[in-house]
Amino acid sequence: MTGFVPPPYPYDRLAELTAIAGSLEGGAIDLSIGTPSDPPPQVVLDALATSDSERGYPASLGSLRYREAAAGWLAERFGVTADPRTQIGACLGTKELVVGLPRLLSLRTPELDTVLYPAVSYPSYAMGATLAGCRAVAVPVDEHWRLRLDDIHPSDARRALCLWVNSPGNPAGALDDLGAAAAWGRINGVLVCSDECYAEFTWDGPARTVLDAGAAAAHGGLLAVHSLSKRSNLAGVRAGFYAGDAELVHYLSEVRKHQGLMVPGPSQAAAIAAWGDDHHVQVQRDRYRRRLELLLEAFAEAGINVGMPEGGFYLWVAAPSGDAWAFARRLAEVTGVVGSPGEFYGDASPGYLRLAVVQPDDRIAVAAERIAAGMAA
Ligand SMILES: Cc1ncc(COP(=O)(O)O)c(C=O)c1O
Repeated sequence: MTGFVPPPYPYDRLAELTAIAGSLEGGAIDLSIGTPSDPPPQVVLDALATSDSERGYPASLGSLRYREAAAGWLAERFGVTADPRTQIGACLGTKELVVGLPRLLSLRTPELDTVLYPAVSYPSYAMGATLAGCRAVAVPVDEHWRLRLDDIHPSDARRALCLWVNSPGNPAGALDDLGAAAAWGRINGVLVCSDECYAEFTWDGPARTVLDAGAAAAHGGLLAVHSLSKRSNLAGVRAGFYAGDAELVHYLSEVRKHQGLMVPGPSQAAAIAAWGDDHHVQVQRDRYRRRLELLLEAFAEAGINVGMPEGGFYLWVAAPSGDAWAFARRLAEVTGVVGSPGEFYGDASPGYLRLAVVQPDDRIAVAAERIAAGMAA
């Protein structure tokens, strides 16, 4: 076969570790995938069940109420203005948008062929470039896991369809300088796409958006993407939005209509309720923060130093021996915890393991006890 062959899906490579971890009492404590297990709020479930929107096709762009709810949340959370009529569109969570965007950008500007993305990052930025037949060019990150914008080669910048930034970042939990990314994009004439799906879980200062850095309210050359998957424990409902540059939002929404991409009506109703409610987010923030602290204290007791992330719900642990797979295996054998080796997030961080604190409190407590008691070198 000479055509595209999909690479093994990263999490499918964890079957052996999961089997090892599963032999401990209570089974595996799966901290490998960032899939929420805590409940969404009841108002959201009620809205999902009672929208009466099952019969007709939903608007691909999202209903005006959906976009107004997203705009209301942007204003409330970040103090930024985005016009729900021209600057916001719906997406099915954000992964499909992240992966699909390079293809649509390259159709629009065929003379450009490059996607820039952080060297240590969520793998879908690079996959979107690959599926578009474009070049995926990793931008090096510094010792704080932030983009080294000065290291982008001018010839790559000239060919770039977009630069991705992700803050708080998956997997390392860094807060990047969104203003610097936006300025780099303006100077180089490159669209800056900011994946902000962990914004509510910002531990170091207030939540941030790249739209803060837009020229007045026009947000030219900027696109922020948001999702309810993590914020409201609604990964199964598939609701998100993209917001920013009106010309780009219009183009994307027109193409997406032809693609048949629609957030289902009941999901739109649920999302409107979710964006209107802040209480459940505060509860979830407290949960994640507690769990992060519990696990990093347990590692400290075992003599393994792990820093509190600046945001997000992942611990990014340097393997004491430098071998992430060996560390992952020992963790699975001794504690039942399954984590994700750093090579899932690019070639630049092979010695790290990512742990998502998404399991319920009682399972995290078991993990913490076993780490403290059994992981000392
Ligand atoms: C950085 C980042 N962006 C986007 C997503 C996509 O999430 P969803 O498609 O559920 O919105 C994820 C999911 O883990 C993620 O970690």
